[in-house]
Amino acid sequence: MEHSLLTECTRANIAAAYLELARPIEGVRVVRPGHPLVVMGPGQPSFANFLMEFDDAEALDRAEATLRTIEVPATIWAFHTDADRAPDLPGQLRDHGFRRMSRLLCMVAEPEATPTESDFTWEQATRPVDRDTVAGFMVRQFFGHTNRHAQAGIQHGTSRSVHALFAAPSIARMTGGVMIVRSPGMAGLYCLCVHPDHQGKGLGGRLVQAVRREAHPDPVMLQCDSTLERWYQALGFRTFGHVDAYCRDR
Ligand SMILES: CC(C)(COP(=O)(O)OP(=O)(O)OC[C@H]1O[C@@H](n2cnc3c(N)ncnc32)[C@H](O)[C@@H]1OP(=O)(O)O)[C@@H](O)C(=O)NCCC(=O)NCCS
Repeated sequence: MEHSLLTECTRANIAAAYLELARPIEGVRVVRPGHPLVVMGPGQPSFANFLMEFDDAEALDRAEATLRTIEVPATIWAFHTDADRAPDLPGQLRDHGFRRMSRLLCMVAEPEATPTESDFTWEQATRPVDRDTVAGFMVRQFFGHTNRHAQAGIQHGTSRSVHALFAAPSIARMTGGVMIVRSPGMAGLYCLCVHPDHQGKGLGGRLVQAVRREAHPDPVMLQCDSTLERWYQALGFRTFGHVDAYCRDR
């Protein structure tokens, strides 16, 4: 896939992921539908209070003008992706009081018919009770250290979203999981996790390959910490950009 299309599709996939995770949380609303996208809710998590899609010099000013019309939460996030065309966006964000909190790599695996592994099983959670179980597992792996209120919000959003949730080897005996976000021409891999007692035995890698099979013929995009870059490279991914998360406290 050509680079600018890839970055556009990536930004669209991230927006689709966050909008859908935020939608079930009480009090969250889309204050501005795009360019820039402004989503505001009552507090944490970050995907319920964010700005993104900055495509011209005035985009951040338009977002600020929108924020002045509402009561804003204590913390607001801004996500800067490679698709953003606003000039010197990092400088603009700094001037508006945002500080960079993290940088994730964006990686992609082109579609490839990977063979099915005979001894691998996973199960998609479709019943609300099962989705809640899988979402709870994911929240414990990723957000075990955050406060209970935030954890409950993330679990609720994940469970009630339309995103596909998978458990391996099964929901009842779940030791690993992953979420797939579909958007036009792309599948996003999110929330990949293996319980600490079961890590290092190959399950994470097999989940990634299962996602590639599930997504086929779409490419699979993910965001990860740079420490995982080589691991994903060994699984067929290449790095093509970044997503930077900025934060501003009231
Ligand atoms: C990343 C994760 C899913 C891998 O699952 P797994 O079942 O242990 O993966 P595998 O057994 O297939 O592969 C293990 C390899 O991943 C490497 N690895 C795992 N986490 C890593 C990290 N944070 N940094 C660098 N390498 C890491 C291990 O060193 C190991 O390498 P080795 O095979 O050369 O020893 C698991 O460690 C996990 O759940 N981590 C916490 C959540 C997370 O970070 N998810 C990724 C989101 S993008």
